[in-house]
Amino acid sequence: MILTITLNPALDQTLLVTGLKPHDTNRIQEVQTDAGGKGINLSRIAAELGTQTTATGFLGGGTGGFIRHVMKKQGIIDECIETSSETRTNFNVESGDGPPTTFNAKGNAVTEREWLQLVAKVTELASSAKWIALGGSLPPGLPEDAFGILGQIAKHAGAKLVLDADGAPMQAGLTANPDFIKPNVREAERLLNRQLFSSRDAIIQAARDLFAQANASEPIVVISRGAEGAIMCCAQGTFETTALPIHPRSTIGSGDSMIGGMLHAILEGNDLPTALRYGNAAGAATATSDGTHIGQKQDILDLFEKTSVHEIK
Ligand SMILES: Nc1ncnc2c1ncn2[C@@H]1O[C@H](COP(=O)(O)OP(=O)(O)OP(=O)(O)O)[C@@H](O)[C@H]1O
Ligand SMILES: [Mg+2]
Repeated sequence: MILTITLNPALDQTLLVTGLKPHDTNRIQEVQTDAGGKGINLSRIAAELGTQTTATGFLGGGTGGFIRHVMKKQGIIDECIETSSETRTNFNVESGDGPPTTFNAKGNAVTEREWLQLVAKVTELASSAKWIALGGSLPPGLPEDAFGILGQIAKHAGAKLVLDADGAPMQAGLTANPDFIKPNVREAERLLNRQLFSSRDAIIQAARDLFAQANASEPIVVISRGAEGAIMCCAQGTFETTALPIHPRSTIGSGDSMIGGMLHAILEGNDLPTALRYGNAAGAATATSDGTHIGQKQDILDLFEKTSVHEIK
């Protein structure tokens, strides 16, 4: 079972328009409403591929209720703590002429009592999870080292920990010695405190440096490069998967889908280079889906056949 923890989930509203005109009236062609947040996206992909997944975190109000409904429909076990505050809503505008314009809310405050309920819930669920995923941002009201505290609970229970965050929450989570991290290039730059100039050689070196710094028994480091594919460094070596030639619609959630695809493949008994191909296919399938929609199983399986992986010596 994959347990995902989403501290700051969101109801995602995507407005599809033709050509975004700022300071003018825009006609909406379609509105899509979706459940979002890094862990919830990861659970959605895992469930889509047929892997058992439980989601915990905070949900509240009508928006939280909608997210619970979506998770139920998709076969995700809902163990989220009900909050007195309403779950935030994020807005994306997709105009068909480039990447979406996004408006992210900071999230509503969580009380100390709700935080303690979550800590107890994660402690209760951790021992039955093979992998625990922590990621995204923190809502107001939580301790700054929330990811460090939750990561340590995961590791003590014997689960493997995947961490996907940025800035201070990422730094806090690293103290728990995650087994798997998947920064994109800009996040990797911040982790290493140096620029990579999108150079393939610099990114390969960055993956190797992050692997060398990792304190897990068999660390996995994947640096995802969007339309350039991804580089992985693990105990078996350094590997590269080239991005698929797709027509991207909205890459929101591609990184979460990559992690979900990889964990699914690992739990199915595949080796890590094959898992990287799965991750590539899942990321690309989500990139070809509108708004915050995630890739569908058949598309992921079809794309997987077109992926390849090679070792970098
Ligand atoms: N335009 C694209 N073309 C082909 N594959 C893509 C594209 N965008 C993303 N992917 C696939 O998805 C993977 C993850 O994407 P990306 O590097 O953008 O993650 P990210 O920045 O963490 O995304 P997010 O955090 O928004 O979910 C890539 O390594 C690649 O395999
Ligand atoms: Mg990401």
